[in-house]
Amino acid sequence: MSEEKRRGHLRSRTKGSESTCAPILEDVKNSRDKMMILERAISCASNGIVITDPHQVDNPIIYVNPSFLDMSGYTREEVIGHNCRFLQGDDRDQEGLQQLREAIQKQESITVVLRNYRKNHTLFWNELTVSPVHDESGGLINFIGVQNDITDRKEAEKAISEFYSKISHELRTPLSSVRTALALLAEGTGGPLTADSSKLVEMAGRNTSRLLKLVNDILDFRKIEAGKMELRLERTLPQDLIEQVLGELEATAAERNINFEVNINCDDVMNVDRDRLAQVLSNLTANAIKFSPNNSKIKIQTVKNREGFICFRVIDRGPGIAQKDFGKLFQKFQQIDSSDKRVPGGTGLGLSISKSLVEIHGGQIGVDSKVGRGSTFWFEIPIENSTVNTSES
Ligand SMILES: Cc1cc2nc3c(=O)[nH]c(=O)nc-3n(C[C@H](O)[C@H](O)[C@H](O)COP(=O)(O)O)c2cc1C
Repeated sequence: MSEEKRRGHLRSRTKGSESTCAPILEDVKNSRDKMMILERAISCASNGIVITDPHQVDNPIIYVNPSFLDMSGYTREEVIGHNCRFLQGDDRDQEGLQQLREAIQKQESITVVLRNYRKNHTLFWNELTVSPVHDESGGLINFIGVQNDITDRKEAEKAISEFYSKISHELRTPLSSVRTALALLAEGTGGPLTADSSKLVEMAGRNTSRLLKLVNDILDFRKIEAGKMELRLERTLPQDLIEQVLGELEATAAERNINFEVNINCDDVMNVDRDRLAQVLSNLTANAIKFSPNNSKIKIQTVKNREGFICFRVIDRGPGIAQKDFGKLFQKFQQIDSSDKRVPGGTGLGLSISKSLVEIHGGQIGVDSKVGRGSTFWFEIPIENSTVNTSES
């Protein structure tokens, strides 16, 4: 193939105007050209890249790119011929380092996050990927390491974590005591209240509860996102769970003359996190109350649709939901009907948190509904839970 034809061939295989001049690497026949392209790419990469030689004593560095030198503050002469451990400090008792050691030993690829130190002794978090480089017959030639300085990300994560811890201690804790104090006042513990004061105390109590629910939702959401939601499993009867939830919501339902009809067709003892499932059922029932017309009925049922699982259903006579909206209902920050001005808006996190809590139990959550015909929200969980808990940090 003539050079002109070959270029035309290369052009016709590339898409988009920007790449029409760039040859496809496999088509570069001249190995010197190929090497140049690869070396230029490695030396321009914004990640640090090192290549080591495991056939020399202590697996020393034989190549570093400029980004590695920028990241570490060392010169090329100071690092070539040395093992990469010069980046480590006295804190060598790191889990990632142990994993890295084993992977190198087994000639396997690995990504770890390590505490490393620049030449000026400042700490940086190194997200490091090390991979063995093999020849055609599978023999080990080199190791390649790609370093990513994630110090900024780590610092941002730390700041976020401190922020949530502040929300928890400096907002949730005092709010809880305000709510308790208001409840005591409402009961008359602080002395008799006039009819007007009683109304004000009740209103303050309701709003404090809403605020507390919002704060709890935000903290739960954070825990779920971080994969740190822990289940405390205990033997629980569906009946007890339902009674607990309805006890808490009865007063709200009664204000609008909404009744509950409970129908239990499956009452196996479940091994679940009672408080977390109560949270799910409470969330679905509170939504049902919100959207039910006055003087209507909400049905709560348990059924066994398949062996080993129990299904809870909450059935309302509300306006119903269009099928096209089913998918987004359980997504974060979505409201069932944010355009409905009759109901006070929540965080839009309730259903998404419920979905996560059910899924952590190894179950499923869903909705069946038709516009104008009410909705059935349901969740199905395994009776014997074997979910491995993630531990809190
Ligand atoms: C290609 C490659 C790149 C490496 N890059 C780093 C690095 O950036 N930071 C680091 O602390 N260790 C790095 N290491 C790990 C150390 O070289 C060494 O293997 C590790 O400290 C465990 O061995 P040791 O217990 O003998 O120190 C790298 C290893 C290889 C093979």
